[in-house]
Amino acid sequence: MLKNDLFLRALNGESVERPPVWMMRQAGRYLPEFRALRDKYDFFTRCETPELAAEITVQPIRIVKPDAAILFSDILVIPRAMGIHVELKDNLGPQIPNPIRTMEQVNQVIVPNIEETLGYVMNAIKLTKEMLNDEVPLIGFAGSPWTIFCYVVEGKGSKSFDTAKGFCFSNPVAAHTLLQKITDTTILYLKEKVKAGCNAIQIFDSWGGMLSPTDYNEFSWQYINQIVEALAEETKVIVFGKGCWFALNEMGKSKASALGVDWTCSARNARYLSGGNITLQGNFDPSRLLSPIPTIKKMVHEMIDEFGKDKYIVNLGHGILPNIPVDHAKAFIDAVKEYKG
Ligand code: CP3
Repeated sequence: MLKNDLFLRALNGESVERPPVWMMRQAGRYLPEFRALRDKYDFFTRCETPELAAEITVQPIRIVKPDAAILFSDILVIPRAMGIHVELKDNLGPQIPNPIRTMEQVNQVIVPNIEETLGYVMNAIKLTKEMLNDEVPLIGFAGSPWTIFCYVVEGKGSKSFDTAKGFCFSNPVAAHTLLQKITDTTILYLKEKVKAGCNAIQIFDSWGGMLSPTDYNEFSWQYINQIVEALAEETKVIVFGKGCWFALNEMGKSKASALGVDWTCSARNARYLSGGNITLQGNFDPSRLLSPIPTIKKMVHEMIDEFGKDKYIVNLGHGILPNIPVDHAKAFIDAVKEYKG
């Protein structure tokens, strides 16, 4: 039994004393302890070495003390396991030297054996669970098929992912074949993560907001929903779509347990669009953690008042930025713990 189950109770829609809080990308570059390990080991070594991944996962639990841990890994371990070469160079972001642009290349992409290619993630989960000692739940995650597709087709990060979109619109058969392979791999992968000990799953659709509402349904949501359907019996699933407020209504009708919201959508609007019944998660502007600490605390309390303390998980509207002072991150978490409704 977990000593702190606020996060799971909020996912169940139960009434809570105060909402739970965690931060997207909470294990990362704003922590000096993380930077010390980053200077010694390259990115995928950190992901692939269970001792390092577990240590990085628990660092924020010790330092800023959120109500849930999220396994240190990356969404790009999936395309790597599928036989696509992915590099992560400092300050350059992800690089795919041979981006997928043809049906021939799509045909070469494999749906891998998870144990063989991603067994290291399961070992990291088991080790992390031991280190967490049932203090807080552990979240596992994956990128949405569309977001992974964006990187493997574009070949690198982008402001608009025009090449990835162009591939969908000019070669929809190849695009759907690739999206389905990513979906099949992700379902197998997430089922193993749950078996290994993850208490909930978040799907990051970081680039869903690049699509129009109609294209979102065709190229992103239908694949996310396959994952939600496949996992809903076994675990709680949170869907976070950056810039995807227009899809909250459709998402609210699915078997997802919670929906992530970014800071461009008000609490009131998100409740209205999602149907008013599903747990919401978000949506503090990550840059707002640069405000003075008293301002952060005041704004967090106002945010909880707006969302309501129940059916709500406090989070940022996207990942924490590398330039956030640790005491400001801590103030964000503390403000939630100090909340008196
Ligand atoms: O604490 C946590 O949230 C767990 C760790 C985590 C990482 N990546 C570690 C990481 C999570 C949940 C991710 C998800 C991820 N990775 C997403 C979806 C969430 C989002 O932010 O939109 C995306 C799009 C990626 C792909 C990716 N990985 C990019 C674009 C980059 C480079 C730019 C950046 O944000 O740093 C990465 C590298 C990465 N993944 C880092 C970390 C801590 C930084 C590089 C490093 O540590 O050397």
